[in-house]
Amino acid sequence: MYSEKVMDHFTHPRNVGEIENPDGVGEVGNTVCGDVMKIFLRIKDDRIEDIKFKTFGCGAAIATSSMVTELVIGKTLQEAKEISNKTVAEALGGLPCQKMHCSNLAADALHAAIDDYHKKQKVSG
Ligand code: FES
Repeated sequence: MYSEKVMDHFTHPRNVGEIENPDGVGEVGNTVCGDVMKIFLRIKDDRIEDIKFKTFGCGAAIATSSMVTELVIGKTLQEAKEISNKTVAEALGGLPCQKMHCSNLAADALHAAIDDYHKKQKVSG
């Protein structure tokens, strides 16, 4: 039921873990199933220098988390903001309909982490 890319990212997820003293953190929960995803960012010169994730969820949630980290690493914050849940699902070669709600976590957590970074900038700047 999953594409090869989904299976690849599910079985070999990229950028799993945590960043110490991150510049931004985003956490979102899926209201449909209760699963949770957390994204940590290291920002340098307005670019995502490093990104890690921790996801407590199904295979599709893990694959979308992994894919979103690969899509945005090295990108500017503006470029990263343009990544949508749909972009992530498409990059994975699509997700089964009943699993589309799982893909909602990835880009939302990324955007929440970027917002957190901007908030922290305002406080310190
Ligand atoms: Fe919860 Fe997929 S079933 S994120």
